[in-house]
Amino acid sequence: MEEHKTYTIKQYPLEQGGLEIEYIEEFFGEFDRKKTAGEIQARLKGREHVIQIVEAQLPSDESLIVPVSFKVGHEIFADEKDQKLRDLVARLRGAVDFEGRHILYSWIGGTRSDWRGQGHFRALTEQQEAWAHEHGFKEVVVKTKNKFYGMRGTLTHLNFDVIKYERNELDNRDSKVYLSKRIGPEVLQTHQSKRNLVQAV
Ligand SMILES: CC(C)(COP(=O)(O)OP(=O)(O)OC[C@H]1O[C@@H](n2cnc3c(N)ncnc32)[C@H](O)[C@@H]1OP(=O)(O)O)[C@@H](O)C(=O)NCCC(=O)NCCS
Repeated sequence: MEEHKTYTIKQYPLEQGGLEIEYIEEFFGEFDRKKTAGEIQARLKGREHVIQIVEAQLPSDESLIVPVSFKVGHEIFADEKDQKLRDLVARLRGAVDFEGRHILYSWIGGTRSDWRGQGHFRALTEQQEAWAHEHGFKEVVVKTKNKFYGMRGTLTHLNFDVIKYERNELDNRDSKVYLSKRIGPEVLQTHQSKRNLVQAV
């Protein structure tokens, strides 16, 4: 993280947020299946969610501000109706306690390659945690794969604990890794980034 730097994080409402995420995902070569705005909006509609994007100056033209890093999270319930989320919750059973607790699933996120290693994802993660705490969430859960070494390393730096490992028998690199972080006031005290949150209008 760059000391003294202030990260500008924009928080989006559902409709506009879906479009913005569809746009920024186009810059990610490593995502095999990019999400459409419709898919994002359908997933988030009717449940608590948070869509946040860091904006930064383009180095070649500092008058231009571009989206560089994003994170989308949403609530998950023990009794999910949505097929994909029902499957996710079933896999989390035993690793996450849903009883009387709000659980946030940090669904998608990343930083565009030219802006990596500058603290954007730490800033976003800390902002999402602050949002989660403010909205009564007790735990943030995230899923990745064994082979996403950068993401695994980053989540380790950000103090996420591995809560489950699901081996893929065909190729261990495709094994799923579930991580989580319990949210409380003490977590906010560990935050390092200086952030300016703006609401998209
Ligand atoms: C992983 C990723 C989100 C990191 O974003 P970033 O903006 O570069 O991260 P930051 O600069 O905020 O780094 C946050 C922390 O993680 C560490 N970190 C960053 N990249 C890392 C890497 N590749 N390996 C190990 N640690 C890493 C940083 O040192 C930093 O730690 P510190 O704050 O304690 O010094 C980004 O590289 C990315 O989008 N990668 C592709 C995503 C992907 O593969 N997704 C697959 C689906 S999960």
